Amino acid sequence: MDFKIGNSGLVKVISLFEGNEICGISEELKNYVKESKLFNGKRGEIFSNLGPNSENIILLGLGKEEENSLENIRRAYLSLGKSLKANNVKSCNIEVKKFDGLCYKLVAQAMIEGIVNVTYSFDNFLKEKKPCFDCEIFLSIVEDKREHIESGIEEIKAIMEAVFMCRDLVNRPANDIYPETLANFAKEELEKVGIEVEILEKKQIESLKMDAFLAVAQGSDLPPKFIIMKHLPNKDEKPIVLVGKGLTYDSGGYAIKPATGMVTMKTDMGGSASVISTMYAVGKINVQRNVIALVATCENMINGHAYRNGDIISSMKGSTIEVVNTDAEGRLTLADAIYYGASKLNPECIVDVATLTGACIQALGSRVIGTVSNNDEVFAKIKESADFMGEYLWRFPVYEEHIQSVKGKVGDLLNSTGAGSGGAITAGVFLEHFVENTPWVHLDIAGPSFSSSAWGTNPEGASGTPVKTLYNFVKKYNKK
Ligand code: BES
Ligand code: MG
Ligand code: ZN
Repeated sequence: MDFKIGNSGLVKVISLFEGNEICGISEELKNYVKESKLFNGKRGEIFSNLGPNSENIILLGLGKEEENSLENIRRAYLSLGKSLKANNVKSCNIEVKKFDGLCYKLVAQAMIEGIVNVTYSFDNFLKEKKPCFDCEIFLSIVEDKREHIESGIEEIKAIMEAVFMCRDLVNRPANDIYPETLANFAKEELEKVGIEVEILEKKQIESLKMDAFLAVAQGSDLPPKFIIMKHLPNKDEKPIVLVGKGLTYDSGGYAIKPATGMVTMKTDMGGSASVISTMYAVGKINVQRNVIALVATCENMINGHAYRNGDIISSMKGSTIEVVNTDAEGRLTLADAIYYGASKLNPECIVDVATLTGACIQALGSRVIGTVSNNDEVFAKIKESADFMGEYLWRFPVYEEHIQSVKGKVGDLLNSTGAGSGGAITAGVFLEHFVENTPWVHLDIAGPSFSSSAWGTNPEGASGTPVKTLYNFVKKYNKK
């Protein structure tokens, strides 16, 4: 799909708010639409008149003018994209409309995002591939605003490429994406856009004494990898450190999951997929901000070497952890990755992203990112980015009892707290132990990372959450 500025497309798209008078079509067609009540301008509503002897137009409803927002624009234009695809439209003109309070560049980006979403499908494993939909889209805009939206087109294309990259990584099964292939993917794809990628092997991970990470990895026949991805355009600037949970499969270990809960656990590397993909967009756009992404990737499996419920293990920080539940493995791998970032990289802030707890889904539902943070300012920046990009995010409170509940008796920490403890919160509190007072935000994406049905602008399967939020956060980050 190609987006250009101009108006030489074959089909004309007319976008209308609810109640607007229809213009740009013949009186005859206008009367027909009016009388038949086929089009009222409701958000996402479509009326098309296409083919031989037609006026070659599509009417798109934008909903009530006063309810406009970037997310509503994305959703309306997704509906247009579906119609273009269903009618196999080869080229079209779309006017970049003036929306109250929104600049043309943001409007154009939201439109493109909505439309381009229809080109995503995951057919890597199908013998018969889905037909590829190609359409040349001309955006018409007043002359003096052209330059303004040109850079916006390039940027949203890079962001959506990254979102699709993340979706593919999460959708790919665990016999295809495992620690080695995930690490190689990061190296190959990110080096293309100028990101420096280093992969630490098991021996090096052992030298760093990442015992918590290694304890999880030891139950698998596949060796763990530690992936370090660097984008450092500025001298003497502390990096933003992104950390992604990279469990390429989570069977639960000896606290084995039931088959129904296990089948989607190929997606337990959604956090790592999102930070790898964010680095791709950051590199491609060459965002002028130092960023380092870290991924401790392994599988949580069961073999004769697997860690047990009840084991007491150590960590890179030296804190000991009682493994109450081998299925609470993500926080163990993250503990070492976060501590590596906090103790070795002098970070400006740390953001970790993880499909961490079913409790987060219980608390907020499956569409919302749950967060825990030790810093109001950095949290506010993340929240602002998520709101801006149309991703749902909410912050959990942390009280004294949550903090006490992760403390152990025979080890320093417990990796799992009892039922009713606020599992999404206590998982975050556990991680905070390893941030060394660095400003930090933890994003639990267990819900929105993957869904059995399409919602908003997200397809069925992997959504690419929270690549858009992370990219925007990095781009807009300003030190106080
Ligand atoms: N990967 C899971 C969390 C998860 C659940 C992600 C559902 C996506 C969808 C995580 O490793 C896990 O198993 N968490 C346990 C923690 C518990 C044992 C404290 C959970 O949520 O049940
Ligand atoms: Mg688990
Ligand atoms: Zn997990």
